[in-house]
Amino acid sequence: MLSPKIEKALNEQVLLEAESSQIYLAMASWAEVEGFSGVAAFLFQHSDEERLHMLKLLKFVNERGGHGTVPALKAPSLKYKGVKELFQQVLDHEILVSTEINKLVDICLKEKDYTTHNFLQWYVSEQIEEEALARLILDKLKMIGADKSGMYFFDRDIATMGAAEKAPAEKK
Ligand code: FEO
Repeated sequence: MLSPKIEKALNEQVLLEAESSQIYLAMASWAEVEGFSGVAAFLFQHSDEERLHMLKLLKFVNERGGHGTVPALKAPSLKYKGVKELFQQVLDHEILVSTEINKLVDICLKEKDYTTHNFLQWYVSEQIEEEALARLILDKLKMIGADKSGMYFFDRDIATMGAAEKAPAEKK
């Protein structure tokens, strides 16, 4: 059985994962309209993954005797200066998510809720992967700079990068 404090904290994480899905969906749509079809494919998939992160949490709350709540979401930004700026925002957002997951883990330890603590280890590993992937993409974009042909190949290759960069066990 979840304590009210942990249930509330998990539901706040449900909100953050749902917002992540919305943000990446908005980014995907922007990329598609701008003609970056590979970037769009990557972000549409990333948005779907965040929805799965949200669902996994919501179902865990219900399984543990709580109520996983479906929150209202803020409208995400619809415009981005460019692909590099967009991926900087992805990295910043993933760092924020990692910080919140770490806070959740800390609450579990303080409350001696080892079941939820164990459940959250999946998210801890996932955040390491997601931050590393966002940094890798940003490094590639910095290398490409203003080179248009480099950008063409980047857009072609990134379409399959989300799945390929993750170890088989991490794929969803
Ligand atoms: Fe589910 Fe990328 O945070």
